Amino acid sequence: MGDPKTAIVTGANSGIGLETARGLARRGYRTVLVCRSAERAAAAKADIDGSVPGADTSIVLCDLGLQADVRRAAAEIVERVDRLDVLVNNAGITIRVPEQTSEGHDVMLAVNHLGPLLLTELLRPLLERSGPARVVNLASDAHRIGRLRLDDLEATRGYGLLGFPRYAETKLMNILTTREQARRWAGTGVTANCVHPGGVRTNLGAPPPVVGRLVGLFLKSPEVGARTSLAAATDPAYADVTGTYFAKSKPADDKLSRLATDDDLAARLWAASEELLAPG
Ligand SMILES: NC(=O)c1ccc[n+]([C@@H]2O[C@H](COP(=O)([O-])OP(=O)(O)OC[C@H]3O[C@@H](n4cnc5c(N)ncnc54)[C@H](OP(=O)(O)O)[C@@H]3O)[C@@H](O)[C@H]2O)c1
Repeated sequence: MGDPKTAIVTGANSGIGLETARGLARRGYRTVLVCRSAERAAAAKADIDGSVPGADTSIVLCDLGLQADVRRAAAEIVERVDRLDVLVNNAGITIRVPEQTSEGHDVMLAVNHLGPLLLTELLRPLLERSGPARVVNLASDAHRIGRLRLDDLEATRGYGLLGFPRYAETKLMNILTTREQARRWAGTGVTANCVHPGGVRTNLGAPPPVVGRLVGLFLKSPEVGARTSLAAATDPAYADVTGTYFAKSKPADDKLSRLATDDDLAARLWAASEELLAPG
């Protein structure tokens, strides 16, 4: 028997990422949990190992908001694993007012877009060598209210009400990036798809406890929320599907906004993003 398949899930210590990692471990994948906090990562690993008999999980620490750390983590991954079959770029945040990383980038841009873009590029040779392989990017239906400000990727003009328009903009970036990745990787054996997990009860946005409990009544559990990521990452029916938006565990390109299907915009976003990646 060959080596077990390997999967990476970013933001695997909480919410949808934790359940995606658990689902991959349950399907027999050697699963690497990419997290920014050693303590939270260790708790997630113990949780998965305790609930999945024979789980093979490990941790790579990475703050996806910092490109230097993404480069270090990618090198650690390449050193540690000999194959990579699935990469789930799950980690994401939404904050209400603009902040900058210590590298001088807008935090939502850095964590939601630049970090996963860079990580994926650095792992792409490994994905190609291991192919067929799949990349799954967590997007959101929220992209529909997103407007892409290519002339102000760093959001110097602000986030908009409670940060939501900015979050939506970064989720639109995730969809456009997925389409551009699919176009660039055609014929390499690596697919790129993105997912809307539905409205899921997680730490995202961390609303005040009372509001959170009320809204939570209408949301899915993280386990149900992870189903679409798991379908895109593992369902044999989707082995050749690429450049597609998934919702409710199936392709859902009909749910995309007009901007999200603009492939010229996707190419321009790619070029503008590359300029924001510091050389290694
Ligand atoms: N929940 C929903 O209804 C919903 C809907 C549509 C899309 N999504 C997308 O689903 C994905 C997962 O979100 P979730 O709802 O499961 O939220 P969550 O519970 O807050 O999980 C987010 C994960 O991302 C990690 N993360 C945040 N900043 C990071 C950084 N700088 N470096 C590394 N990891 C970082 C978090 O780590 P810490 O625990 O250390 O903060 C956490 O593990 C996100 O991309 C989100 O946009 C969610």
